[in-house]
Amino acid sequence: MEKSLGTVVITGAAGRVGSAMRAGLRAEAERLVLVDRVGLCARSPTEEVRQFDLRDAEAVTAALEGADAVVHLGGVPDEAPLPELLDGNVRGTHNVLEGARRQGVGRVVLASSNRLTGFYPVSENVTPEMPPRPDGLYGVSKVAVEALGRLYADKFGLSVVCLRIGSFEDAPTERRHLATWLSPRDCLGFVRAALTAPGIRFTTVYGVSANTRRFWDIDAGKALGYTPVDDAEAFASRVPPEGRSADDPLQGGAYADAEYTLRHV
Ligand SMILES: NC(=O)c1ccc[n+]([C@@H]2O[C@H](COP(=O)([O-])OP(=O)(O)OC[C@H]3O[C@@H](n4cnc5c(N)ncnc54)[C@H](O)[C@@H]3O)[C@@H](O)[C@H]2O)c1
Repeated sequence: MEKSLGTVVITGAAGRVGSAMRAGLRAEAERLVLVDRVGLCARSPTEEVRQFDLRDAEAVTAALEGADAVVHLGGVPDEAPLPELLDGNVRGTHNVLEGARRQGVGRVVLASSNRLTGFYPVSENVTPEMPPRPDGLYGVSKVAVEALGRLYADKFGLSVVCLRIGSFEDAPTERRHLATWLSPRDCLGFVRAALTAPGIRFTTVYGVSANTRRFWDIDAGKALGYTPVDDAEAFASRVPPEGRSADDPLQGGAYADAEYTLRHV
């Protein structure tokens, strides 16, 4: 396969999404720099590992030297006390964007989240242009992540893609996933498109599979050059009927419950 992606840095490379993107992009990158606060081992001559905390701005900038692109996945992936979210997600993203600015990185892909709009009702088809309605403090931190991306695009000319990741799972395991599932194959498709789409200053895309029951717009993803192929409907008969369902009034489902946030404040 042609190594068309040049040097790509993946932050949060030891995580669920990061591990899958690492495996998927390995053959296409000339150099894959894997960043995480936990230790990793290189699995090919083109892989380099860097172990540090994303709060360390100097280490982030150093890791981005010579990079063509960065896929920023590292951070707190769920509801947590606000100080942790500010540190892990907001400060970490600022360090990545500032490092990218200093090193002249050509494309920044930021992991955002569907939870930025979890308070919309399931009856509404939500597009990236609609105002945020976060379903918790984690969603608020992703509003800040996207705003930082927008600032660095508008003010400093970076090329930034925010990917609002749905429910990244091998297969849907609960009713909400029938709307929100993002298959590993589609996730890789979105990330690859986010890395390679030409002429982007700033854009936001829902990373969701082509689920029949989805409530997020996928046109922005098509404009980026990727149309998802998987549909959670194929798993509908295997998803247990009990518990909350895709008929819940809010897109965030249980994440939008007051209790889900109150245990962290
Ligand atoms: N998994 C999903 O369904 C989903 C949905 C929406 C958004 N996202 C976003 O995608 C990204 C990846 O999610 P994930 O599910 O792979 O999470 P994960 O927890 O599996 O992986 C996150 C990785 O980031 C690393 N990390 C966290 N804080 C760090 C820090 N301060 N410095 C260095 N490394 C740090 C962790 O060690 C971990 O390996 C996150 O930004 C998350 O918010 C994920």
